Amino acid sequence: MSDLLARHRAVMPSWLALYYDNPIEIVTGKGNRVTDADGVTYLDFFAGIVTNMLGYDVAEVREAVERQLARGVAHTSTLYLLRGQVELAEKIARLSGIPDAKVFFTNSGTEANETALLLATCARGSDQVLAMRNSYHGRSYGTIAVTGNRGWKNSSLSPLNVHYLHGTDRDHPAFRGMGDEEYVEVCVADLRDVLATATAPDVACLIAEPVQGVGGFAMAPEGLFAAYKEVLDEHGILFVSDEVQTGWGRTGSHFWGIGAHGVVPDAMTFAKGLGNGFAIGGVVARGDLMDGLPANGVATFGGNPVSTAAANATLDYLLDHDLQANAARLGPVLLDGLRPLAASLATVGAVRGRGLMFAVDMVEPDSGEPSPRLAAAVLEETRRRGLLIGKGGLHGHTLRMAPPMTLSEEEAREGRDILVEAITAVDAAAR
Ligand SMILES: Cc1ncc(COP(=O)(O)O)c(C=O)c1O
Repeated sequence: MSDLLARHRAVMPSWLALYYDNPIEIVTGKGNRVTDADGVTYLDFFAGIVTNMLGYDVAEVREAVERQLARGVAHTSTLYLLRGQVELAEKIARLSGIPDAKVFFTNSGTEANETALLLATCARGSDQVLAMRNSYHGRSYGTIAVTGNRGWKNSSLSPLNVHYLHGTDRDHPAFRGMGDEEYVEVCVADLRDVLATATAPDVACLIAEPVQGVGGFAMAPEGLFAAYKEVLDEHGILFVSDEVQTGWGRTGSHFWGIGAHGVVPDAMTFAKGLGNGFAIGGVVARGDLMDGLPANGVATFGGNPVSTAAANATLDYLLDHDLQANAARLGPVLLDGLRPLAASLATVGAVRGRGLMFAVDMVEPDSGEPSPRLAAAVLEETRRRGLLIGKGGLHGHTLRMAPPMTLSEEEAREGRDILVEAITAVDAAAR
């Protein structure tokens, strides 16, 4: 064991998982590659968990941060006017498509979701929330309460009353073999049933990820959330889209993941990619919803001058270079190369994705059961070949890839080919 790993184990929580048998210490980065402490360079297809949206050492972001630091002010608090924060809020409000939108900045996705849940429960005078099975919304009490993934559910203590909906569980025996239309119908009937039988009146909101990040990029059929929203609207129930992983055009076809369902939500939460590594998250919501809190609120560090300088530069870069179009263009390059594996290899259960969010389920070749063991083996094999990827899914059996949105076609092909090689090697060894 390396000295740093031993020190890590001694002082860091045991539940803070490290990847790889011999964990990596990343020390430098440039473009879409990182180099570890042993001098080994990797193409990065996980981007610090879907966060280094522009890759590494981007001059525009670095210079914006340096300009702010050179002014001598890293923090003032929101007691004073913050030009960078107002500018960023204006951009996000405009991009959101939400009428009369207002924005509140936080330091993380967890805090963003906490805020959205607070807005919805206050507006509706109810602690009842609908959430999706297999979801992940954060690590605090409130966000764990709406997380429907046992692997991340540390506590049942909850400030909310939560009911879980179907929509991303096509493998459930009750739904197997159903086409999209029938599955949507059954899910909507279940939502109606939950509201008619299981909840007290006045449910506050539904919170949902358009593509479930930690849940292994599982996704509802297009149109499901529009069908859900029709029912929600009948009851005045609000809709919160958790865009922490799916925002900023990563899914290629739409700027927000929920766009694929033709829905404009009442609120959206965001974090991860916005600051290209600098800590910033937030909520964008209808102005009346945002303004509806009955008491004061503040996030001391939320939207501070350094993180908003990084976020403004990141968002401008993303829009100037139309990285959403890049995600739309490269998604098929990656998926077309990986899809055939599902038919040809017994260890590959399914391949799916939208834009630069794509996933491969690893299964046991004999039983077809989810295989976290084989997923871990593919991680080791991709690492040996110079590629970083992620893992996820309800059973930890899903390979998750979300490279920087600045990925070139050459890099897409390089990473895809390494993935195919690594999965093929693991498949051969598993038989
Ligand atoms: C969809 C989603 N929501 C919320 C969060 C929580 O964000 P954070 O880790 O920044 O608190 C995550 C983190 O992975 C996420 O994927």
